[in-house]
This record gives sequence, structure tokens and C-alpha cells, in this order.
Amino acid sequence: MVKLPPFEVEQWMDKYENTPGVLNIAETCCSSISINRLAQFNSDQQADAHQLIDFSKPMTYGPILGSDELRRNIAATYNEDESKTNTQTPLLTTDNIIVTQGAIAANHLVFYSLVGPGDHVISVFPTYQQLYTIPESLGAAVSLWKLKPEDGYVPDVTELESLIKSNTKMIVINNPNNPTGVTIPKEVLSEIIRIARKHDIIVFSDEVYRPLFHSIEPDKIPLSAISMGYPKTVATSSMSKAWALAGIRVGWIASRDPSIIQAVASARDYTTISVSQLDDQIARYALSASVRPQLIARNMSLARSNLKILEQFVAEHSNTCTWVKPTAGTTALVRFRNKDGTPVDDEQFCKDVLEKTKVMFLPGSRCFGHGQTSSFDGTVRIGYVSETEVLRQALEELGGYITDYLK
Ligand SMILES: Cc1ncc(COP(=O)(O)O)c(C=O)c1O
Repeated sequence: MVKLPPFEVEQWMDKYENTPGVLNIAETCCSSISINRLAQFNSDQQADAHQLIDFSKPMTYGPILGSDELRRNIAATYNEDESKTNTQTPLLTTDNIIVTQGAIAANHLVFYSLVGPGDHVISVFPTYQQLYTIPESLGAAVSLWKLKPEDGYVPDVTELESLIKSNTKMIVINNPNNPTGVTIPKEVLSEIIRIARKHDIIVFSDEVYRPLFHSIEPDKIPLSAISMGYPKTVATSSMSKAWALAGIRVGWIASRDPSIIQAVASARDYTTISVSQLDDQIARYALSASVRPQLIARNMSLARSNLKILEQFVAEHSNTCTWVKPTAGTTALVRFRNKDGTPVDDEQFCKDVLEKTKVMFLPGSRCFGHGQTSSFDGTVRIGYVSETEVLRQALEELGGYITDYLK
């Protein structure tokens, strides 16, 4: 049996997120909404929450790969982005989309379908641990493509060239990135695609934080990797982060390559059958043309105003913390140091802050560093797109902790 190492982020969250009175700024979803609230985002004012789900529908498995309407609405999110640029890519259709139980299942399925013993995979690092642990568990050799704070966590494409081997099957990117909140710039993405095409390698892009590009000029927002003119790409995403609906557990895989879609669909038969038909209905409603713009506008605005609050905190405490300011997504990697300049022990720091103030965030070394490099020393991941009041209160408490306890 494959022995998987612990999934550190998930275990930390499970262990501490139910601490009574917790001020949770570890969460990576835009502050989650209820179904009643979702209905309020409908531009059709006659619509109410009860119209969202058809309660008379028999609960069959439903359409196996996801309902046509949901897959059409998902495809529309990519087509809409492309329509704002001069790309000549053919429109995405339902055939390009497979619905899954969250991006976590989507990611797993991509690896399970496309990677095996004898393959080599390159994954950006740091990122969501699943993206390098799973290919390794499937017998692939994995090289980590390290993002460095001194490069603003932008991947260095010259390094990518040097990591490629004759058996490199896949390059894994995460755009926007968790935990840094950094966007891979358009030009860098084009270079990654160019290199992958030259070596005939699949590009797999986890885009679960797309389209939450809240702090970058509109003309700098990169397209999805699948919209860059190279068919051998596959992207995953979900309703959890940018759409604030993690509880419905709907995600997807998108690709223009029929052989990738085919491989994933056949492997999926062994794990999924279909997703919950209630979840499918809610997701298709949330991504419909009359709801999607208002829902994303709420989350963009929450992310922007909360990021300003966090930015002000970092500026006010510049003697003890530094960061690379995020441009997208919901997370930031913030580095704390003691007053003597040494980095805090981030795991101890997270535990002590939680105990003394109830403020919860994640230790960078433990959850993202995996003993690979000391460049995570003193870092914590903050998920700042909570309700604004929670963030304000948490940062006030944290400020008090810094004054009282950091030596
Ligand atoms: C980069 C990344 N991918 C995938 C996931 C899984 O998200 P979900 O299964 O809720 O869609 C997460 C969750 O934190 C994530 O950060």
C-alpha cells in the first residue's frame, strides 16, 4: 500500500479550526456564503433561494460528467476571459469540462490518469502539498521548482529548463499561487508554455483561486493556461475559493486536449460516478450569467478591502514583519522576526498566538516548507478574505501579541 506523508495544511486546519472563539485567518476561501445569500446575488430580483434547487427532481445519479448547464456555465468563465483579449482560441464547450468533487478530487484525478512510474514531474514549490505528494505517491519522480522571495515568488523559467529530463511528463503550476498569493505574469506563463511545447510536456495548472485577480491591473491578468494556444494543458478549479461555496464540493477539470479529457473520464468512472445533484444545481446557479458577475464582484471587493487592512498592518509592524504583497487569491505569506532580527519559530509562534489571542494562521515551515529549505523560517500563511471584522479583530489581537511577547 502507498504510504502517504501527512497533508500538513489539512491536518493543521482540522486540529485547530474548531478552537472555541477562534479568530480564523487561516482559511483560504473567500468568506463562505449561505444559499439564501447566494440567491440575493441574482440580478433577477424575482428569484429566491427556493428556485435554486428543483425539489421535485428524482435523485438519480444525474449526468455522469456533470450537467450540461453546469459545464456550459464553467466553459463560459474561460470564454468570457478570452473574449477580453485578442486570442483566437476556439470557444470551450461542455466537451472540454469534467465536473468533480472539489478541486482536490480534480487534481487527484489528473495525476491518477496521466502520471505513473517512470515519469518525471516538475512542480512549483511552495504550493498546495497535494500537487507534488500525489504524483510521487503514484511512482513518479518529482522535482520541485522553487519560488524565491527575492524573485517576488515569480517562477524562474531558466531554472525550469534545467529541471527538464527526457522523461518529464508534466509541469505543474498553481496560478494564482497558494500560499504566496502571487500571480504568474503573462510573459512568464507564455515562456512556460513555450518550453513545454518544445519538449512535448503536459502543463497542469491548478487555478482554484482564479479569477480572483483583485490587485493587479486588468491588462496584466493572465489567461488560464488552457487558453494559451497549447492544447496539451489541463486546468483545475472549483466553487470553493473565488466563488465562496466550498461546502457544495464542486470542482472541475478543463482541457482542450480530447485525449486528456478521455483519460480523465475513464479513470473517473472508478472514483466518482457523478457529483451530488443538489450541488450541481447550486453550482450551475452560482455560475449562471445572472448571478456570476455579482458574486465575483462581492469577493473581489472583499479581497481588495481586506488586503488594504493587512497591508497597513504589515507597514505598521515593519520592524517585525515583511512580505511579498499578494496580487491575487486569498492568501499571503508573511515573515515574522523577533526584535533582535532572528526569524520566529513559526510553528511555536502559531501555537502561542492561538493560545494567547485565539488568532489562527498556519506555520509556513511545517505546512509548506517540508524541511526543504530554510527560506520558510518565520513565515506564516494568512488567509485574509474572511469577513472584514474578523480580520480587523484578529490583526488587532496580533498587534497586541507582537508588542507584549516578541522579544
Ligand atoms: C491550490 C489548491 N488547490 C486545490 C484545493 C482544494 O480545494 P477544493 O477541493 O475545496 O476545491 C485547495 C484548497 O485549499 C488549494 O489551495
